[in-house]
Amino acid sequence: MILILTLFSLITSLSSSYGYDPLDPHANITITWDFILKTDSSYDITVSIHNFQLFRHIEKPGWKLGWTWKEDEVIWNMWGAEATEQGNCSKFIGGGGKLPHCCEKNPTIVDLMPGAPYNMQVSNCCKGGVLTSMVQDYSKSLSAFRMVIGSFSNNITNINMPFNFSLGLPGYSCGDPFHVPPTKFSHDGGRRFTQALETWNVTCSYSQFRSSPAPKCCVSLSSFYNDTIVPCPQCSCNCQGLPGTKCVKPGETPSLLELPPTHVTQEVPPLVMCSHHMCPIRVHWHVKQSYRQYWRVKITITNLNFVKNYSQWNLVVQHPNLQSLTQVFSFSYHDLHQYGNINDTGMFWGIQYYNDMLLVSGSSGNVQSEILLRKDPGHFTFREGWAFPRRISFNADECVMPLPDDYPRLPNSRGHSSTLTPPLIFFLSLFSFAFL
Ligand SMILES: *[C@@H]1O[C@H](CO)[C@@H](O)[C@H](O)[C@H]1NC(C)=O
Ligand SMILES: *[C@@H]1O[C@H](CO)[C@@H](O)[C@H](O)[C@H]1NC(C)=O
Ligand SMILES: *[C@@H]1O[C@H](CO)[C@@H](O)[C@H](O)[C@H]1NC(C)=O
Ligand SMILES: *[C@@H]1O[C@H](CO)[C@@H](O)[C@H](O)[C@H]1NC(C)=O
Ligand SMILES: *[C@@H]1O[C@H](CO)[C@@H](O)[C@H](O)[C@H]1NC(C)=O
Ligand SMILES: *[C@@H]1O[C@H](CO)[C@@H](O)[C@H](O)[C@H]1NC(C)=O
Ligand SMILES: *[C@@H]1O[C@H](CO)[C@@H](O)[C@H](O)[C@H]1NC(C)=O
Ligand SMILES: *[C@@H]1O[C@H](CO)[C@@H](O)[C@H](O)[C@H]1NC(C)=O
Repeated sequence: MILILTLFSLITSLSSSYGYDPLDPHANITITWDFILKTDSSYDITVSIHNFQLFRHIEKPGWKLGWTWKEDEVIWNMWGAEATEQGNCSKFIGGGGKLPHCCEKNPTIVDLMPGAPYNMQVSNCCKGGVLTSMVQDYSKSLSAFRMVIGSFSNNITNINMPFNFSLGLPGYSCGDPFHVPPTKFSHDGGRRFTQALETWNVTCSYSQFRSSPAPKCCVSLSSFYNDTIVPCPQCSCNCQGLPGTKCVKPGETPSLLELPPTHVTQEVPPLVMCSHHMCPIRVHWHVKQSYRQYWRVKITITNLNFVKNYSQWNLVVQHPNLQSLTQVFSFSYHDLHQYGNINDTGMFWGIQYYNDMLLVSGSSGNVQSEILLRKDPGHFTFREGWAFPRRISFNADECVMPLPDDYPRLPNSRGHSSTLTPPLIFFLSLFSFAFL
């Protein structure tokens, strides 16, 4: 058994250190760079950033796109986004009386905020750098901006593709640009198409290992057939009392001094409620009721972080009975079946204006829903922890689960080893499948 457990933890740690998520094997963010128009002294570029990730979104403070110019290019003008620094444009003093928007060799570009002046907008811009995941809202998974590029010699002969792209987001890294067939733009309701002079794609991918290997959420379990509430494992995210860890005692609200200053361009580190698990997010799975043909689960997500409202949150759940999910009461749901017929994984997220915002703890720091599942004959059982999820992630970060040995048991079931085996076999087969 110890051997299997070791193997299991080895495999899970391996799988999370890879950039690769078996539930979303093609996940990437693609930057498309279209050269549109060239004159003697400048050229126009449109850049779009597409979030091709099923369940990972880009939250505030949003993307910060960076690259390195090949020669002495400068950005004369920009719509839909802006450079964070103008840089040293002193070479241009005395020119036409106007300085470029940005003269940096390594510019950093940020999206404009919603409500930016109309004459500075382009289509798909101005979302404050936030990109929705593909499943939640495909229409908001794209950002775009336009710019006019010149150079000091004011004589552009080549159009150079820059290099060294970055998204300014923890965990992401970008590859080299590659030349792709030119983008076509539709006009006149699709009756005429124009095309870019040249198009390049840059693919960026995420790795939890590069981001931060520390978990950000944990799972607790309970059931109607056993009084035990199985809590999140000890030290799931951090250990209380370690030097340098701060937390807020339950029932207290942090004073303004304790709260880290809010920042427009940087993510604020979490300040969590003191607990034995120290996670900013806890997901509780309660097996609530059993009917003749159906059974009911209540899912509660609690925000224990005092410095963040989680907007557009999502939960990815793996459970073999999700293939017979009959009703979801107050979340949205979409199944994720990456391997043909195996639809044991699905994504839950909030309903707009109702519970799509998971507010800071205190007054209303949780969202909940119930789901109804059909008991598939031959599969369904309350024995051996089958009714509990195999895997849960919150905002695409995998949550720490209690050990299968601790799961609430049916009062009459005996024997430890039998409670362990089925979820483990399931995990092992899943991961070996993923590694083939
Ligand atoms: C990026 O994701 C899109 C959409 O899933 C996919 O078509 C494309 O092949 C991916 N790109 C790479 C380089 O994997
Ligand atoms: C700005 O660039 C010019 C040359 O282009 C250089 O002479 C000057 O020292 C630079 N200024 C600063 C503050 O770096
Ligand atoms: C621009 O560069 C080309 C080739 O390098 C040269 O033939 C042309 O005279 C230059 N034009 C100006 C205005 O400097
Ligand atoms: C690549 O970009 C980083 C900033 O994102 C910069 O520090 C580094 O110097 C760049 N590399 C090259 C070769 O210019
Ligand atoms: C380049 O990126 C666009 C998305 O912005 C995608 O539609 C296209 O398929 C990509 N091209 C290649 C060759 O991957
Ligand atoms: C969270 O949202 C509430 C209500 O919209 C707001 O009052 C509060 O300031 C927000 N807190 C943070 C940390 O953003
Ligand atoms: C799962 O797949 C089965 C067969 O492939 C299908 O009948 C069922 O409706 C699917 N369930 C969900 C929730 O998509
Ligand atoms: C409830 O589950 C716990 C944990 O598996 C177990 O120790 C306990 O004996 C169970 N209670 C009953 C009444 O069977």
